[in-house]
Amino acid sequence: MRTILVTGGAGYIGSHTCQALARAGWRPVVLDDLSSGHPWAVQWGPLEPGDVRDPARLDAVFARHAPEAVIHFAGLIEVGASVRDPGAFYAVNVGGSLALLEAMRRHGVNRLIFSSTCAVFGPPDRLPLDEDLPHRPISPYGASKAMVERILADHAAAHGLRAVALRYFNAAGADPAAGLGEAHAPETHLIPLAIAAALGQRPALTLFGTDYDTPDGTCVRDFVHVNDLAAAHLLALDWTGREAGMHGFNLGNGVGYSVREVIAAVERVSGRPVPVSFGPRRAGDPPHLVADSRRIRARLGWNPRHPAIDDIVASAWDWHHRVFPALPARLAPPESLRPVRENDDDPRPATRDENGEHKRRRGAGQG
Ligand SMILES: NC(=O)c1ccc[n+]([C@@H]2O[C@H](COP(=O)([O-])OP(=O)(O)OC[C@H]3O[C@@H](n4cnc5c(N)ncnc54)[C@H](O)[C@@H]3O)[C@@H](O)[C@H]2O)c1
Repeated sequence: MRTILVTGGAGYIGSHTCQALARAGWRPVVLDDLSSGHPWAVQWGPLEPGDVRDPARLDAVFARHAPEAVIHFAGLIEVGASVRDPGAFYAVNVGGSLALLEAMRRHGVNRLIFSSTCAVFGPPDRLPLDEDLPHRPISPYGASKAMVERILADHAAAHGLRAVALRYFNAAGADPAAGLGEAHAPETHLIPLAIAAALGQRPALTLFGTDYDTPDGTCVRDFVHVNDLAAAHLLALDWTGREAGMHGFNLGNGVGYSVREVIAAVERVSGRPVPVSFGPRRAGDPPHLVADSRRIRARLGWNPRHPAIDDIVASAWDWHHRVFPALPARLAPPESLRPVRENDDDPRPATRDENGEHKRRRGAGQG
């Protein structure tokens, strides 16, 4: 069986991708520090706890498992947090990627798929967003991913690295049958927040800006089912087997839904109202972000199987209201990692640390 190293494989997109890898005959070895990932999400291969910035830990994992390729999901993902603490984002996202690349060179591995983001582009001056737009990120998060893309291109030129950067738009949905779904803490993504509001787990969903130049005044985004994202990684992996160099692909359905349309979909699927409140626009939120997905469709043969927003929302709804609260013992996180509610004023999940103290976990947020 072919072995692949998956950093961040205990996280949301990484865990779904591990399932897809296993189905395709790969043995995914997950390296994850569990800062925002979950042991219960690692089901298709060994979990090697560790920090991707740790060269000694990387050497041990490469030596033990001899992976022939790497998928690099590990990183910090919340845009707002990156503005407050840019150093942490550059350290983990850029420093972690550099440490990983050096370890790959030491161990003779030259195929890498990297989790990038549409945030590398910043506010676009044309729509939909194609690959030829310049990288003009406005957040440290987007900048950290753009820097890594540049580093990958330089390593491809200097060292023969074969790399694909997949620039995800908004990952969404779940795979309830596999016991997998989105469990960020704190959660900042629209669909899980709308579902939590419908379930009464939070008071109301805040709409940040209703006066944008869009059909209903709310921001428009491109939501792509997490299993369709996972499938793209398999195609990208094949691509690195036959194409040299570093290549970036924008990865979204190419269809935009407004915040209000997503809320309506949650209400249709759940049969419950989503209580909303209204807030001001958030700095740096472009009105309209939709992928031009022609290149990834044409070159990698990617074809999303779950593009309809109701299908995406239905899978997320099933996960959040039925599967996650009743995870069987086989999948359940240890008590120390299980989300707990601290008080009714702050609906974000929290964790207990080793001393039994409640604490917030870092990570999560808008990718
Ligand atoms: N979720 C989205 O919509 C989205 C959009 C664009 C890009 N992305 C990118 O995709 C990747 C995965 O996102 P996700 O939503 O699954 O996030 P996630 O937080 O669920 O997964 C990230 C994983 O990385 C691990 N991790 C973090 N720092 C680490 C470190 N120093 N060493 C080892 N492991 C570490 C976490 O524990 C977690 O399991 C990220 O790189 C993110 O920037 C996500």
